[in-house]
Amino acid sequence: LENYDVAVIGGGVIGSSIAYSLAKRGKRVVVLERDRIGCQASSAAAGMLAVQAEMQEGGPLFELARQSRSMFPRLAEELKELTGIDIGLVNKGMLLPALTISQVEHLHALIASHKSAGESCEWWSTEEVIRHEPKLSNALLGAMFIPGDGQVLAPKLTQAFAKSAIMLGAEIKEYTQVHGIQCSQHAVVGVHTNQGDIMCDQVVVAAGVWSHGILQSMNLPLTVFPVKGECFAVIDHAPLLQATVFTDGCYLVPKRGGRLVIGATVQEHTFDKRVSAGGIATLMERATQLLPDIAKAEWDKAWTGLRPQTPDGIPYLGRVDDIEGMYLATGHYRNGILLSPITGEIMADLVEGRSTIDLDLSAFHVARIA
Ligand code: FAD
Ligand code: GLY
Repeated sequence: LENYDVAVIGGGVIGSSIAYSLAKRGKRVVVLERDRIGCQASSAAAGMLAVQAEMQEGGPLFELARQSRSMFPRLAEELKELTGIDIGLVNKGMLLPALTISQVEHLHALIASHKSAGESCEWWSTEEVIRHEPKLSNALLGAMFIPGDGQVLAPKLTQAFAKSAIMLGAEIKEYTQVHGIQCSQHAVVGVHTNQGDIMCDQVVVAAGVWSHGILQSMNLPLTVFPVKGECFAVIDHAPLLQATVFTDGCYLVPKRGGRLVIGATVQEHTFDKRVSAGGIATLMERATQLLPDIAKAEWDKAWTGLRPQTPDGIPYLGRVDDIEGMYLATGHYRNGILLSPITGEIMADLVEGRSTIDLDLSAFHVARIA
């Protein structure tokens, strides 16, 4: 029987980042992925590192996100050096436009609160917005500009984590589905898979929305549920935008080659991954209100992904109390790309029983629910 220190269940961005951090620390680690690396939510993501844009209030998740965002410049270099993969880190900032007077007021208050938390941001008038981004609608009433919120190519990031882990000695087994975790006297001893049993001392469940089934099979009273998101992309030979544009109902993320990603719908409790005409129509309407030229651009494609969400909106990052050697890392909802570097380090810390990350992790404990 094959024997490892740690088996990671799930080869999305979270499992791949954990494998990378563990391999860097010399652990014998295997990633077990039911299908292909990064084939689910992690490839559907728009790749925004939207600390200030998405998490508008302080608190433990904001702090986690802030630290994770700061890890990207060095991480991009490390991954490039190990694998040659460029994760496409872009630091051209994010714009939160206002379409109504009440949004103008809300954004001014947000700027004040982010500044007092030590974060950079500023208000741009309509003229300033149009000077920087001439294709945006001049019906906008100005925008909050966040220089620090960048973006990456999400599928590349996942591939780069996985390949780097391999370079450092990890094994990745694709088309390997975990059916159950094997315990002896309340301690993990291995996992059952469709390719046979694998022995390990520790197991990290990082199976996105499918973590729920694994937790149920262990009789653990923890919930992870899917929140479907639909996106589409268009291509224009002259790039339509420099910065990412972010609103509540829709965001526009400029990628290489004149490609623009437009997302995303939010639909809870469905595993149906089909793209709906209504979802794309809604997004198109919101997007062209911000950037009318989208209507003239060439259609590229549409897709969906399932975001893993927890009942209180905070990811589970921790050990499972009653089962020695079992850990959980999921529920990153809308921010798994952003949170992947720090999640890898936190989980490697937990597995090693030491702490290198300066952060109070109690809000993320698995036992907070029980
Ligand atoms: P997944 O990527 O879903 O990976 C889980 C993996 O586990 C899958 O590959 C699956 O095949 C595997 N698996 C499941 N069950 C088993 C089993 N029994 N055995 C073996 N393997 C198994 N986040 C950001 O930070 N920025 C963004 O801009 C952003 N945009 C998004 C846009 C959309 C439309 C969506 C849907 C999400 C977006 N997200 C974004 C969120 C982000 O994509 C997720 O939080 C993140 O990808 C979750 O990663 P994961 O590894 O937990 O899950
Ligand atoms: N973070 C963007 C999304 O989940 O749609």
